[in-house]
Amino acid sequence: MDKPDMTRIETRCRWQGWREKLCSAEEAAALIEDGMTVGMSGFTRAGEAKEVPRALAERAALDPLSITLMTGASLGNDLDKLLTEANVLSRRMPFQVDATLRRAINDGRVMFIDQHLSETVELLRNRQLAELDVAVVEACAITEEGGIVPTTSVGNSASYAILADKVIIELNLDAPAELEGLHDIYIPQMRPTRPPIPVVAPDSRIGTPYIPIDPDKIAAIVVTEGRDSPSTVLPPDADTRRIADHLIRFFTEEVSAGRLAPSLLPLQAGIGSMANAVMSGLAEGPFEHLTMYSEVLQDSTFDLLDAGKLDFASGCSITLSEACGERVWSNLDAYRERLILRPQELSNHPGIARRLGIIAINTALEVDIYGNVNSTHVGGTKMMNGIGGSGDFARNAQLSVFVTKAVAKGGDLSSVVPFVSHVDHTEHDVDVLVTEHGLADLRGLAPRERAERVIEQCADPRYRPALRRYFAEACGRGGHTPHCLEQALAWHIAVERDGHMRSLQAEGAEAVGA
Ligand code: COA
Repeated sequence: MDKPDMTRIETRCRWQGWREKLCSAEEAAALIEDGMTVGMSGFTRAGEAKEVPRALAERAALDPLSITLMTGASLGNDLDKLLTEANVLSRRMPFQVDATLRRAINDGRVMFIDQHLSETVELLRNRQLAELDVAVVEACAITEEGGIVPTTSVGNSASYAILADKVIIELNLDAPAELEGLHDIYIPQMRPTRPPIPVVAPDSRIGTPYIPIDPDKIAAIVVTEGRDSPSTVLPPDADTRRIADHLIRFFTEEVSAGRLAPSLLPLQAGIGSMANAVMSGLAEGPFEHLTMYSEVLQDSTFDLLDAGKLDFASGCSITLSEACGERVWSNLDAYRERLILRPQELSNHPGIARRLGIIAINTALEVDIYGNVNSTHVGGTKMMNGIGGSGDFARNAQLSVFVTKAVAKGGDLSSVVPFVSHVDHTEHDVDVLVTEHGLADLRGLAPRERAERVIEQCADPRYRPALRRYFAEACGRGGHTPHCLEQALAWHIAVERDGHMRSLQAEGAEAVGA
């Protein structure tokens, strides 16, 4: 950026020592050395440090270096792409969504550690991961005591800043100053004497509005400007609307049966277009006074707030499309009282999810007839994004829902298969499966009952005959969870061989004499 405007900096930087620490992104990046472990802010393309990683990638072109990079989740502004292309990343955790980095991971050039997002800082704190040398955190302000006020995400920034030897702050003058006060930073105490975490409702405020650190650790302050990348979420389509309709009907029946109140329970919705569409669908449902206890707050959160359907939303990041961002960032005061951003170990805390009894809605790549879910590995081997927070929520929710379209790649792949090619969420953590064709309520069902329901309610009709045939043959062999092991992965082997599962459509059709 051009020469920094001191007056603008002074309004954001109340800590007296700032002038001595002011430096360029290149100077700050020089603090990061080959072999170091670095923790950076950034969660679902929100609130990432923007200039220091870019300067690091540029430096690596002349002076090669590689680091272990930990973040909250995915980075925006193509930073994972730039860092991958510059060969800066030797290890990366705990989540990513970048196509270039994904290729490097799947080629074995970057070691990717796919973690439950609530766990990364717990592992760090307990010294089960390499200790952090440097933290790089985006801030919208620095308090009188040197406390860091994050921007659009908290993610893992608080623990990274607290645990690292040195802290680089990127003070982003473009981030709305009104973000200050939105965050609630609480760090669980060390085990084994940790007291209960006192979040008892989505709007519980239990911490400070800034990250408290020892200001002696502030090694550099880099002044930046620049926005988060807009979200890439697609608007709802006919199929995702149908998925939302099935879920709304199901929730309505749960209310009628007295198992849910009309305000439901705190909602968690996963990343991506599908979960966003389902949440948007709730705006048309008969529910009032909804709350969210989730991870990322997407456009749908603000649609529901605007529709007067949602009373409160707690998350650890806000990722918006360009249009929604314009509406929200210029009008933050209208939303402030109804939002909290927390560290991701709190937004995704298994104990809190269980205490609040959340309704978790996450997305699957594929599911199997018994209810196991694959959210991460295409064809069982190729990493897509990572498990993210879905496991934190799915195991501990009062209702764990997974949604997916019944087919992918224009019908070439069935998302309902005899046996998933990789298991992220076991049958024990899945209560309800939904596709555009219907909803399978799996609660209280044995595997054989589940299989029938998943095939008849969720599978695409073109693939149902082959699934029925598989299940019938498997049942003939017996077992609590019947399988024909030599055929169980045949659907995935067909994709490896032919690039699609269409042969299964034909095989199934022949088998039923169609
Ligand atoms: N086999 C192969 N590819 C498949 C597939 C399958 N069974 N099902 C979907 N895909 C592909 C789609 O074709 C699409 O590919 P493209 O990007 O080349 O078009 C891609 O996966 C994304 O699928 P889409 O239908 O657009 O769904 P989405 O944007 O909602 O993302 C996940 C779905 C599963 C990838 C995403 O939700 C995810 O990463 N989840 C794991 C992490 C998580 O749940 N975090 C939230 C916790 S709070």
